Amino acid sequence: MAKNKKSKTALMREIRDEVVNLTSSPLYEFRTENGYLPVLGEGSHDASIMFIGEGPGLNEAKTGRPFCGAAGKILDQLLEDVHIPRCEIYITNIIKDRPPQNRDPLPAEIEIYAPFLDRQIEIIEPKVIATLGRYAMVYVMEKFGLDAQIEPISTAHGKEYGVQTLFGSLIIIPLYHPAVVIYNNKMLGALREDFKKLETYHKGVPNKTKP
Ligand code: URA
Repeated sequence: MAKNKKSKTALMREIRDEVVNLTSSPLYEFRTENGYLPVLGEGSHDASIMFIGEGPGLNEAKTGRPFCGAAGKILDQLLEDVHIPRCEIYITNIIKDRPPQNRDPLPAEIEIYAPFLDRQIEIIEPKVIATLGRYAMVYVMEKFGLDAQIEPISTAHGKEYGVQTLFGSLIIIPLYHPAVVIYNNKMLGALREDFKKLETYHKGVPNKTKP
């Protein structure tokens, strides 16, 4: 490592500290009044595959861990089915604090939290970003200049979009949000099919720290 270059962990801690003290966020008071925790992200800082969801739910806000509630159980099962250990990927959200009643994130909330996500992407430098749900898909596709190719998630899911970034080539794969399965079990099949594509990438682009 070059002298004076901060470690990935140090950079992630800086993000955490800034989010913890983000008094300007419209969700800050809701967090502190309820004794919730911000949810920064979890997993390997050297992951090749990065998952990006929408925002923390109640369980996540109580524990500070992403995808640890009902949607998280579905995500865990989908990962297990395609032999991807959760500890080898990185999972985060666009919004780092729980919105009241788990409502959709507001544009002002995306605006305040997205720069933290951008920094997390720059730290991890993933080969693949799998977005979970429409909000993450739209944010990530717009961020990487794919605005013109944005479609409804019902047709975009499972497609692969290649882009060039400052850290090399990146593939973006939009996925349904795992929570859809809670409301409609028939969606599990589509998610399973799409996760098989991730299995291929996980095998083909092993975790960057592996020899
Ligand atoms: N849904 C999300 O989008 N993110 C979580 O962390 C949990 C549920």
